[in-house]
Amino acid sequence: MNVALRPAAPAFDVERVRAEFPILGQLVRGKKLVFLDSAASAQKPRAVIDAFRDAMETQYANVHRGLHWMSERTTDAYEGTRDVVAGLINARDRTEIVFVRNSTEGINLVANSYGRGVMQPGAAVVISEMEHHSNLVPWQMLRDAHGIELRIVPVTDTGELDMAAFEALLADGRVGLVAITHMSNVLGTYTPAQRIMALAHAHGAKVLLDGSQAVVHRRVDVQALGCDFYVFTGHKLYGPTGIGVLWAKSELLDRMPPWMGGGDMISSVTWERSTWANVPHKFEAGTPAILESVALAAAIRFVQGIGYDAIAAHEASLTAHALDRLAHVEGVRVLGTAPDRGGVVSFTLANAHAHDVATLLDREGIAVRAGNHCAEPLMRRFGVDSTARASFGVYTTHAEIDALADTLDRVRSFFA
Ligand code: ALA
Repeated sequence: MNVALRPAAPAFDVERVRAEFPILGQLVRGKKLVFLDSAASAQKPRAVIDAFRDAMETQYANVHRGLHWMSERTTDAYEGTRDVVAGLINARDRTEIVFVRNSTEGINLVANSYGRGVMQPGAAVVISEMEHHSNLVPWQMLRDAHGIELRIVPVTDTGELDMAAFEALLADGRVGLVAITHMSNVLGTYTPAQRIMALAHAHGAKVLLDGSQAVVHRRVDVQALGCDFYVFTGHKLYGPTGIGVLWAKSELLDRMPPWMGGGDMISSVTWERSTWANVPHKFEAGTPAILESVALAAAIRFVQGIGYDAIAAHEASLTAHALDRLAHVEGVRVLGTAPDRGGVVSFTLANAHAHDVATLLDREGIAVRAGNHCAEPLMRRFGVDSTARASFGVYTTHAEIDALADTLDRVRSFFA
């Protein structure tokens, strides 16, 4: 087809996107809601809300258990979400998609199954200083229970991984797994996935990328990335809470023992022993998040309907605008200056605690997160105990960032 004749992609229209999110129309104490806390959990579009309601009104029963029409139909919808997820991240096959409750559970599954069942005591796991607790605590637990060494890649003053230190940590060939964020929830930094993969694989280590933040902002292609495990959660991707995804190469899932036992993950059960269902079912014990899977498919279709090119361009523009506006508010210090970053900006304000800053912003209807962002070691690395954090989604506007900067300026004069 002649490129010139190809229909142009519809221009990104933030007001049209906002109209899909009923919650954004609310007033907070008489003021327009400015929701800048999407990195913690994103708001839900009408398509997701409707998918939940429609499923409960027309299509609900337990899955994989009934021979009746309603169960079969619900099972098709539940299993169909695996295809939607596989399409989103370019997995080879729907059997590589394991449903979990969230990224945290996906990482715990890898730690308990791959970590205890495949890795040998004495092997090492590498994480980084910019991990949130979900990608830190499970590895400490594995270390203590299974004799695994935990190694930490330092973060530079710019908020990037120290890649020379990373390479040095791999040098003795004892690292079995590297588990690193794809995008920091505090600094916004994208980690250099291709280099991580090349170095780790050259030293015989597998790689888990924590895509909790990244998949919201950028197209993820697990085959192009070349990673071995990828996790993300539904609720940050405009979908429901209670469902997340662990993707892994099928040869790894095949080798991994189940982590949790119960119904649905077995092939046969006697008093003496049980045998396991095929992947991915051997990792999904008990009644799963049925409604949530249907709503997750709706969320993914919503994101795909807008398109990652448009999302990434909108958020890059928002982030640049936020960094520019905050640079002009006296006393504001933004953590991290990495050039490759997504729509998350953490900052401190001189003479003010982050909780007080967030409370005063909230009085003006501006919602930001304040605290350690489930990343206490990273806070210490930057010499702070907490920050305020503004994070952006598809519905965020430049005017909302202006509201944040203008209000911060007033908050600053209050504390000056
Ligand atoms: N990890 C989530 C956040 O960054 C909860 O807010």
